[in-house]
Amino acid sequence: MDKDGWRKDCWRAAAVISSLQLNTFSEPIDWRQAGTVVGAVSSPAAAYNDGNIRWMTGLAILGSTGSIGCNTLNVVEHLAPRFTVVALSAGQNVDRLAEQIRRHRPRLVAVADEAAARRLRDLVPADWTGEITVGMDGMTAVATHPAAAIVVTAVVGGRGLLPTLRAIELGRRVCIANKEPLVMAGELMMRRARECRAEILPVDSEHNALHQCLRGNTLTEVHRLVLTASGGPFRTLPVEDFPHITVAQALRHPTWMMGRKITIDSATLMNKGLEVIEARWLYTVPPEQIEVVIHPQSVVHSLVTFVDGSTMAQLGVADMRHPIQYALTYPERCAAPVAQLDLTAVARLEFYPPDPVKFPCLRLAYDALRAGGTLPAVLNAANEEAVAAFLDERLRFTDIPAVIETTLARHDSRPTTHLEAILAADEWARREAQQLIAERKR
Ligand SMILES: NC(=O)c1ccc[n+]([C@@H]2O[C@H](COP(=O)([O-])OP(=O)(O)OC[C@H]3O[C@@H](n4cnc5c(N)ncnc54)[C@H](OP(=O)(O)O)[C@@H]3O)[C@@H](O)[C@H]2O)c1
Repeated sequence: MDKDGWRKDCWRAAAVISSLQLNTFSEPIDWRQAGTVVGAVSSPAAAYNDGNIRWMTGLAILGSTGSIGCNTLNVVEHLAPRFTVVALSAGQNVDRLAEQIRRHRPRLVAVADEAAARRLRDLVPADWTGEITVGMDGMTAVATHPAAAIVVTAVVGGRGLLPTLRAIELGRRVCIANKEPLVMAGELMMRRARECRAEILPVDSEHNALHQCLRGNTLTEVHRLVLTASGGPFRTLPVEDFPHITVAQALRHPTWMMGRKITIDSATLMNKGLEVIEARWLYTVPPEQIEVVIHPQSVVHSLVTFVDGSTMAQLGVADMRHPIQYALTYPERCAAPVAQLDLTAVARLEFYPPDPVKFPCLRLAYDALRAGGTLPAVLNAANEEAVAAFLDERLRFTDIPAVIETTLARHDSRPTTHLEAILAADEWARREAQQLIAERKR
């Protein structure tokens, strides 16, 4: 697919979504009538213990070859035979996808484009009878596979928006790691989730921690959500050295092993800004009640302060398999393939305010959220373009916030009631940011 291919696909799929009546997907789905061997029902946890029958829950994963995707499959193997993998999507890593096909035998897979599909066809086992699809249509087919009661969204970037929305509109349990769609269209996604009775479970460790702290409480009891951030590799680097930061330095995250884009976002603190916006929509809390603190040990994954002054925190080792498993098995907790936290080994937990001079991206995210409309979608798109340019060594580290700020300042914000407005803002912002990047020299 060409560089803009997924956005053209988005427009086409958006037109289809807009033409669908709301009640198309509002009826509960009787999965056992679907004629599949998978006993997937609308409540995955209940499905597992159905009297004497143990039903396997059908699972689809968008971005199965990435960091979150591979960790999800590791959890699935650990919990075998509770889940059965019915559909997977990947981008270009066909070697890894072929290996996943050998192990999990999904019925449907999707890759980024025709060239990747051709390479994959040469690698799949001869006796595998599944289907290979491509592009945005392929990813959407994976997200809406009829046997998938749970969809894990682990693809990177705004390209996850339409498939995620389609899974929501089918009333599935959607375990969201892919945060960019929530930043672009959080209000719309959460509204559709309420209307279609979809269950959204956050995989992002901070929002998963908030979910755990909020169990048994109501949102009216919440005084403040506190998101923790490791501070990334440049927390203690003098500000004068920031213009000379290299790609290799920025990819060296001190506590988490993640994909390249989120690792750069963590180094600029834009990741925390995106998470503030994500928390705003997941928990219906205004920006002034969402705080960010730097916590270099990454042991406290986030906290909730209640109106009575009590604060609850969720602690654990830095291993994404924990929040992934929590989202898959909720409301059950079961033994996880994760080390237990040893507090005496950790010994010290530190917390600091973020430095707004070194990390302007956090302020930009708060500003876009407060201003609302299509500005968060513009923030996300400009950031995706700037990070890609930094990774390609076409932009300096300190130019990332500069490109985003100028793109935001030039944008004429629109209401986000319709998907088309969000996609138009995304497309506009990418063009604008690309032009700004071309004008700057590293
Ligand atoms: N990693 C973490 O610990 C973590 C924590 C919290 C939230 N998240 C969020 O989870 C999402 C995934 O992060 P990650 O770290 O797992 O990223 P990653 O390792 O870079 O994986 C990204 C996945 O997206 C696929 N992909 C990339 N371009 C594609 C395209 N054009 N079409 C179809 N698929 C494409 C990749 O496929 P190929 O590799 O096959 O090309 C891969 O499967 C991000 O939104 C991130 O912010 C991640």
